[in-house]
Amino acid sequence: MYTITLIPGDGIGPEVAKAMTKVVKATGVDIRWEKVDAGEGVMDEYGIPLPSHVIDTIKKNKIAIKGPVTTPVGKGFRSVNVTLRQELDLYVNLRPVKSFRGIKSRYENVDLVIVRENTEDLYAGIEHKLGDYGAESIKIITKGASERIVDFACNYVKDNKRNKLTAVHKANIMKLSDGLFLDVFREVASKYDVESDDLIVDAAAMNLVLNPQKHDVMVMPNLYGDILSDLCAGLVGGLGIIPGANIGKEYAVFEAVHGSAPQIAGKNKANPTALIQSAVMMLRYLGEYDNAKKIEDALAEVFLRGEKLTVDLGGSASTDEFADEVCKYIL
Ligand code: NAI
Repeated sequence: MYTITLIPGDGIGPEVAKAMTKVVKATGVDIRWEKVDAGEGVMDEYGIPLPSHVIDTIKKNKIAIKGPVTTPVGKGFRSVNVTLRQELDLYVNLRPVKSFRGIKSRYENVDLVIVRENTEDLYAGIEHKLGDYGAESIKIITKGASERIVDFACNYVKDNKRNKLTAVHKANIMKLSDGLFLDVFREVASKYDVESDDLIVDAAAMNLVLNPQKHDVMVMPNLYGDILSDLCAGLVGGLGIIPGANIGKEYAVFEAVHGSAPQIAGKNKANPTALIQSAVMMLRYLGEYDNAKKIEDALAEVFLRGEKLTVDLGGSASTDEFADEVCKYIL
């Protein structure tokens, strides 16, 4: 039996988390969920919506899965997600982007993976005002963090029999910070038997839209990874389907790419596929390959039939109906 920390989050989080646990249960895998709350409505004494016992339970169980958490824009507390990633040193953000047959989207046969550095860059959160006339955010790129993310990406390419690793950067302008990332990439990648190249981030954005099928595994600093993940989600049907994993040496926290989608929260309309697919990644991480495959096959069947799709994919099924449909095809 596994004990796994479950953080439903806020907005659509509790709805997609309920659907996810139902689908995972249908495989028969023996999981005890240790549910803890973070996000709007749960503040600690410093006004931060990430009580210390949440971190403690993840440290105890080593693995967590979480729904999205709302972060105020331009003011208020620091992102719960960024804090979790830094506190637990979850230095990898792994986001596979794959087309499903049956989902109507801009492109077919996309199968690429974003490996995003998860602890530094502009997300280090070092900002200050410059009197009344401006503000400054500091971009941190270190050799150590760059080495370990490129190392992870190279191993990912090898272990998953992928074809190529591409580094994404803006080293033509940020010659020191992105220049360091690119130098480290070239040095580390040369030690592996993997085909590698690099792209400037703006060209990468255009190439992804023109020819997404030509891309394979892409490794990049934090900010570019955040932006290109959403772009890639848009290529294959939207944020409702793309999963993610935050992985460190000791802990792993699985979560969808999407946010709390306040417009549709509480309406039983959200697509839970992204969190269900995050659970598939979690099961693989646990070595539960058969159970992971059962869910993947069931999702593929539901999309191919196209009878019970959620609103974001052009259907009218509720979150609960979609989850029930997936359970129906778990064999
Ligand atoms: P969002 O991902 O919540 O929503 C963007 C668009 O995608 C909206 O139209 C939304 O309705 C749709 N969408 C997202 N997930 C969906 C799903 N599962 N099913 C159907 N439609 C879905 O991004 P937004 O609006 O920029 O952020 C909302 C809040 O979420 C913000 O406070 C943001 O900081 C937070 N956020 C949290 C994340 C996390 O906890 N990991 C990640 C991204 C954003």
